Amino acid sequence: MLVQYIINDAQNTTFGVSFAKLFIFLNSLTNIGINLIKKNIYILAIESSCDDTGAAVICDGVVISNKMACQTVHSEYGGVIPELASRQHLLHIIPVIDSALKAANIDKGELSAIAFTRGPGLLGSLIVGVSMAKSLALALDLPMIEVHHMHAHILAHFADEPKPEFPFLCLTVSGGHTQIVRVDDYTEMTVLGTTLDDAAGEAFDKAGKMLGLEYPAGPIIDKLAREGKPIFDFPEPQVGELNFSFSGLKTSILYFLQKEMAANPNFIKDNLADLCASIQSSIVKILMKKLTRASTITGIKNIGIAGGVSANSGLRSALESEGKAKKWKTFIPAFEYCTDNAGMIGIAAYYKYLNQDFTDQHVTPAPRLAF
Ligand code: KG4
Ligand code: ZN
Repeated sequence: MLVQYIINDAQNTTFGVSFAKLFIFLNSLTNIGINLIKKNIYILAIESSCDDTGAAVICDGVVISNKMACQTVHSEYGGVIPELASRQHLLHIIPVIDSALKAANIDKGELSAIAFTRGPGLLGSLIVGVSMAKSLALALDLPMIEVHHMHAHILAHFADEPKPEFPFLCLTVSGGHTQIVRVDDYTEMTVLGTTLDDAAGEAFDKAGKMLGLEYPAGPIIDKLAREGKPIFDFPEPQVGELNFSFSGLKTSILYFLQKEMAANPNFIKDNLADLCASIQSSIVKILMKKLTRASTITGIKNIGIAGGVSANSGLRSALESEGKAKKWKTFIPAFEYCTDNAGMIGIAAYYKYLNQDFTDQHVTPAPRLAF
């Protein structure tokens, strides 16, 4: 009403006509501004770094759909076969994206950006996700956001409450990485310690293979360990400060099994649960010792775990009990955000979106992307 009054009044003079036009123009600019501020940020995120194909929709930093297609073809080989993984991604990626959009109840036209894992990971697997992201961004004329897979594992903590306060320490344990990271902000992270050889997830998987378990053996060891006792001792590695090493543990498990099997060919079968409990307890002890050391050195008492191995029940309860003893604030992601998923890629992308940190069509997959 007030606007109409001013326009009518202004139109009574020649100067007034121009004034009225200027007023309408400024008014429409303000409306556009308000609409831009109000508009929800919808990000479609794609994850394809290893053997799981994921797509998720994130609205203003909140995961509203998170779909995964897990590959089972690798289980009989004792590890991921890269060629098979990329072919499976090709089969899964479009149905998974469709299903994420449907579950979020939004149309492609409502998206604000396309996010994807640029690395690290398997080249053939990454190519599928990166190419899909590029095609969608080009067709829909949307900005692209590249995400570092390990940053995303850490930022998975922001999917649910309670969210960690900065700075916090994150023990990031997956099939390819074992790191202690100091997290000062959504995009400011420093690696304080890392593995010198195998990753913690790899240690679970390789030990499981020696026991005749399928790949990935981590969750199977976790389950069997609940029925056993950690009665077998394996030596702890002696590596400097905050770094890790798991290759010595792997070798000592191998020699131990060879020795026991020579005396009793049924040794593994007869002691499977206790072996699993012992292996899990050794890995968890190694991880917790370094994490505790990192907290002492930095004085940081906000402590989280992330990555596939953070789904391990032994590690989760060790963090909780150590946290109580040391008066830490501990952060453990929900199971769906521990192992690979596209929701975490979308969360990491959201904070990059807020900084307008976009990439372009020249981007290439980076299997060894630096942290
Ligand atoms: O983060 P993730 O899904 O993929 C990578 O980025 O590597 O981690 C996969 C790893 C595998 O080594 C798997 O055995 C391990 O996480 N894992 C577990 C458990 N669930 C997954 N290890 C121990 N206990 C679990 N419950
Ligand atoms: Zn991962």
